[in-house]
Amino acid sequence: MNQSNDILQGYEQKTPGSRAEYDRAAKVVPGGNSRQAGFWAPYPLTIKSASGARVTDIDGNQYIDLLNNYTALVHGHAYGPITDAVAKQLGKGTCWAAINHAQTELAEQLTDRVASIDQVRFTNSGTEAGILALIIARAHTGRNKILMARGGYHGSLMEFDSGFFGKEGPMTYLGEYGDSGSFKQQLAKHGDEIAAVFVESVMGASGIIPATSEFLNEVKQATNAAGALFVLDEVLTFRLATGGRQQTLGFEPDLTTFGKLIGGGFPVGAVGASRELMNIFDPTDLKAFHTGTFNANPITMVAGNVSVRELTAERIADMERLAILFKNGLLEIAQQVGLPLTINHVGSLLNLFFTESHSGIHHDRDDLDISRRFHLACLCEGLFIAPRGLMALSTVFDENLVEECLEKAKRAMQETASEVV
Ligand SMILES: Cc1ncc(COP(=O)(O)O)c(C=O)c1O
Repeated sequence: MNQSNDILQGYEQKTPGSRAEYDRAAKVVPGGNSRQAGFWAPYPLTIKSASGARVTDIDGNQYIDLLNNYTALVHGHAYGPITDAVAKQLGKGTCWAAINHAQTELAEQLTDRVASIDQVRFTNSGTEAGILALIIARAHTGRNKILMARGGYHGSLMEFDSGFFGKEGPMTYLGEYGDSGSFKQQLAKHGDEIAAVFVESVMGASGIIPATSEFLNEVKQATNAAGALFVLDEVLTFRLATGGRQQTLGFEPDLTTFGKLIGGGFPVGAVGASRELMNIFDPTDLKAFHTGTFNANPITMVAGNVSVRELTAERIADMERLAILFKNGLLEIAQQVGLPLTINHVGSLLNLFFTESHSGIHHDRDDLDISRRFHLACLCEGLFIAPRGLMALSTVFDENLVEECLEKAKRAMQETASEVV
């Protein structure tokens, strides 16, 4: 096998400004950045500006953005209707400790779209939405622990992290995603300690693995029988249908967590549930405490209103059509260049695995070396994707852009194949 490092050298030659910025940033910020997902070796890019489907780095290199901030920017960068709404709001003030109308509107949009929820509370991230769902479940059950899927992701919190890394923790029991029996077993053993069962409707960080409605319904039934609450995480998957993935699956969770696209590119999270469950926050009869200086700030709310309103069923279907076109093109190229390739795909979300079938999650993947090389090769060719192979289309994509992506991906795969085949 030819183990040359031409791709790495090409990346370093193309991005000296990003290298310099990383060296400077890493002195004052561990890893140069405030999120693990924004790091890759040898150093991540520094992005200077972004518009529509393209981002430009500090060296002036342009990339088609196929990641869209890990799916959050469903309408791409600097989307005109969102920047207009935010610009208008900026002049009217950015936050105050009282109600703002945009919050009411966004809550109305979410409760209109999602059948299982009557009310929502907003937070500043999907992680905080998970924390709030846990607060609600703890208040209702008087219990503390959670049960989640091995390799699931619900945010950056100790209770969730251990499951993400595949290990049980002091507050966390694990089931196997897709295997309702394993969840039932844990509930039978530890049900009296478990406040909530958290499940993603499509496993995102583990590589776009969809749940079936049978799996979700069986786990929810066992969860409720054990006296715990079922939390469906739709932080990533709300982009898949106007009423979220639960609409497609005809599934009604007790609690739903949201994030990403509902903030239109600004920090956001939300929890939705029935009026009965949300009653604990009734200020005249408080049973659980929830507050936050920037919760539901009007900037996020006006941006979120546009983002959600303009995510129509037609646009969702169009993104899926283009994602399938892209997926088929990638599979054809992989065959031509002699690379094994599996693509997990749901709607506008894709995850690439350079193996004959999807095998392993996170750091246990069999294709870590090849996918790292492909990631850097994509960057060299002007395609911005996640190091782990996640891609998420936005509504500003069209056939021509998909064609351009395929041309770039072809060169990236050829370069990757020349290093590993
Ligand atoms: C399924 C899921 N839940 C929760 C989160 C956490 O959201 P945030 O990064 O806004 O804290 C994420 C983020 O990627 C996610 O994908």
